[in-house]
Amino acid sequence: SPVVLAAPAAAVVETSNGSSSAAADTDAGLFSSDLISPAVAAALPEGYVVRALRRSDYATGFLDCLRVLTTVGDISEAAFDDRYAWLARQDGTYYVLVIEDTNVGKVVGTGSLIVERKFLGQVGHIEDIAVDKDQQGKKLGLRVIQALDYIAEQVGCYKTILDCSEANEGFYVKCGFRRAGLEMAHYH
Ligand code: ACO
Repeated sequence: SPVVLAAPAAAVVETSNGSSSAAADTDAGLFSSDLISPAVAAALPEGYVVRALRRSDYATGFLDCLRVLTTVGDISEAAFDDRYAWLARQDGTYYVLVIEDTNVGKVVGTGSLIVERKFLGQVGHIEDIAVDKDQQGKKLGLRVIQALDYIAEQVGCYKTILDCSEANEGFYVKCGFRRAGLEMAHYH
């Protein structure tokens, strides 16, 4: 059964040399490159970049990347564009992040942060973490979580929470999360 994990918004990232990543592109992305952690960008393997999802990622394997997580099915480019435009209008709420291997022009990892605004503060929710099967074990999942934690901290979340299976608990513990509750669900 899913467990709920939580971490303080202050992320622990080992390195910091101040370089920023997002490549110049007319397709600017879902959120500002100012929110990309310089330390995470610097810690990636050669040729890998961490950046906001772009509309053009329909063609760079973003949806394929999600297939390690769930059944994706056929999503047309028009449907993708519609949802992308809707996400972009939810000012400051949806942060869909990708890691691209620019050596091959392919998205190899992704994760999302959804910022919930309460009357009493803001909570970050981490969703849809996925790393391509043949890229797992290179710390890309860790980098995705660190990058999302950085955004959560920058935008003022006091904590970040997520649901996961027991099988993934060890991964999130390595990312600085701890078990903090029990998930309940009512399916409709
Ligand atoms: N259990 C215990 N430890 C793990 C696990 C696991 N399932 N997966 C990775 N780790 C460890 C690694 O060994 C590594 O430890 P180390 O620092 O001692 O070497 C550390 O966690 C970091 O691992 P990464 O290399 O960053 O992990 P990876 O890039 O392979 O990504 C992920 C992990 C995202 C879980 C990947 O395996 C994946 O995409 N799985 C399928 C989809 C999935 O289950 N996503 C999470 C759903 S939950 C959610 O989205 C909120």
